[in-house]
Order: sequence, then C-alpha cells, then structure tokens
Amino acid sequence: MQSDITITVDGTEHHTTVDTRTTVLDLLRERLGVTSPKKGCDHGQCGSCTVLLDGRRHLTCLALAVAHDGAEVTTAAGLSEGEELHPVQQAFLDHDGLQCGYCTPGQVCSAVGMLDEAKQGHPSHVTEDLEAEADLTDDEIRERMSGNLCRCGAYAGILAAVRESAGRA
Ligand code: FES
Ligand code: FES
Repeated sequence: MQSDITITVDGTEHHTTVDTRTTVLDLLRERLGVTSPKKGCDHGQCGSCTVLLDGRRHLTCLALAVAHDGAEVTTAAGLSEGEELHPVQQAFLDHDGLQCGYCTPGQVCSAVGMLDEAKQGHPSHVTEDLEAEADLTDDEIRERMSGNLCRCGAYAGILAAVRESAGRA
C-alpha cells in the first residue's frame, strides 16, 4: 500500500509517496539522498540512525515514515549554521570523539537530544533524586548515551565532548 506524506528534512520540505512499510531511515537515505543518518544494525540496537524528529531524538530504523507525516527531521548535518558548527559538533572535534565517524552523526544527534531532555528535567535510569534538576555526571552521560554504540571505541572522547557540551568540562 502506498501513502502520500510530507516531511521536512534539515529545513527542506519533501512531498513524496511511500510504501507504508518504509522506515524514516530508508526514506531519508534511499529516496531523499540524505546520508547523514547511518544504517548500522537496522534493529534499534546501535543508535547510528538517530536524528531529531520533531525535536526529540529518535531511531529512524524503527520509525515508519507514514507515522511521521508532517514531521520535522534534523540530522547531524542540519545542526550546523552554514560553515559554523553546532557547539556539540565542535566539542566532538575538539575532544577527538570520533575515529571512523560512522557512529558520529547518531552520537551528535543523541547528545543534542539528551541535553535537551536533561534540561527539561527528564530523569534517566541512574538518576537518584527524581525531584532535583538533572545533574549530568559522567554516570548520567554514559547512561543517557548508552543507546549509541561506537565500534571504534571512541567513548572517552565522546564522553569528554558531551561533558563539555553540558557545561561540566
Ligand atoms: S541502525 Fe537504527 S539503531 Fe542501528
Ligand atoms: S567512530 Fe567509528 S564507530 Fe564510532
């Protein structure tokens, strides 16, 4: 079955017809040529396909495109303002938070999303005081970023980059 949808990606609106089984990830990469989100596992286990979907981090390999008709997608590539990098992108560079770079767009989107979640007071699995403002300790950062795997093992740099982005460097 086919369905007409509209989706805005990094500020560009697309009107397209999709098979109802098409994931947002396949729509982005295969149909729209947006290759910033990466397909790692295609099973929701690695986080490399993470984007901001209507402002919240989302695994696009598990999201059906028809369910997100009218959505706004921001990929890691869309976070920068022209030549000027987003502070989280810059922090990844400054702290050597990448090696091959395959997981990096997902890590960057996830970091941006999780910093916003923390700012809004969302607790994580390791948050002890559910009433207090989220304190982004290293344990909190590791837990909140645990859905993003890095096969190169650049975790030390990723942690440092997110720590700095959280204002704790
Ligand atoms: S490709 Fe989506 S979580 Fe791995
Ligand atoms: S930098 Fe290579 S998978 Fe993370």
